[in-house]
Amino acid sequence: MSAPVLETENLVKVYGRGESRFDALKGLTFEIEQGESVAIVGKSGSGKSTLMHLLALLDDPTSGVVAMQGRPVSQLKASQVSALRNETFGFVFQQFFLNANQTVLENVILPLKIAGVPAAERKRRGLEMLEQLEMADKAKNKATDLSGGQKQRACIARALVNSPTVLFADEPTGNLDTATSEVVEDILFGLHRERGITLVVVTHDDDLAARCDRRLLMQDGLIVADERGETAKAAGAGVGQASREGSRQVGGHGKHAAPTPVDARAADVGAEAAGEGNA
Ligand SMILES: Nc1ncnc2c1ncn2[C@@H]1O[C@H](COP(=O)(O)OP(=O)(O)OP(=O)(O)O)[C@@H](O)[C@H]1O
Ligand SMILES: [Mg+2]
Repeated sequence: MSAPVLETENLVKVYGRGESRFDALKGLTFEIEQGESVAIVGKSGSGKSTLMHLLALLDDPTSGVVAMQGRPVSQLKASQVSALRNETFGFVFQQFFLNANQTVLENVILPLKIAGVPAAERKRRGLEMLEQLEMADKAKNKATDLSGGQKQRACIARALVNSPTVLFADEPTGNLDTATSEVVEDILFGLHRERGITLVVVTHDDDLAARCDRRLLMQDGLIVADERGETAKAAGAGVGQASREGSRQVGGHGKHAAPTPVDARAADVGAEAAGEGNA
């Protein structure tokens, strides 16, 4: 059997030091196989986004190992890591803003530009992706002139345009109404089924978690449950509720400033802070 697409060994992330030290991840060891769909669930502040950033190679662990296809990432050069990210990964993260000064289409095709795809092909693939997300009529709009849900869909189009083999999504349906959420979920799971794309999704949405093959439940920087198949689906129901309540107590998602490395690397995958609102 081939090596897992992603694996971690004793992954630790500590933010700050001294009195402000916070142990966000306390030693996680697990594997994600090619073609799995994995939901990462748990209360607000449990470490979901932190884990996602480490898996997506957007931030470095304090200690421990992240390996891709059996190869520890620390052995790769920075340029290899960038190339890997651009070719292999797609991201739907809330801090990866669209570039406000560019059109929707320009935003969407940025990963293809970085990968050196010719202009005509870029445009064709970008429009095709926007079409699938029912956004083709907004292709020429400035990214600022979109509703929250439309920005989210533009980000999803950008994440998918490069046909990634692993898609990371942090609350991909967080800002969307039910109908649009369904469109987005169907696209994600369609890619999962038809192209064997690996999905790693942080979500508070029970329905979305229930559609995944596997569910990792996080609590205080640890994985406290790792469930597959029907168990995961059945258990998915209760957890989202707890998560939402947890979020409410601390004022919702996206309040944490992204650690600097994530910002720096976000630019690397072609996203820039638009200054206002999120994707
Ligand atoms: N850059 C940072 N500096 C200091 N602490 C941080 C930083 N980023 C996150 N944290 C802390 O680490 C913990 C985990 O944060 P993380 O963003 O991973 O939570 P989460 O599970 O994604 O929560 P949510 O559901 O609210 O998005 C939180 O207590 C948070 O305050
Ligand atoms: Mg988060």
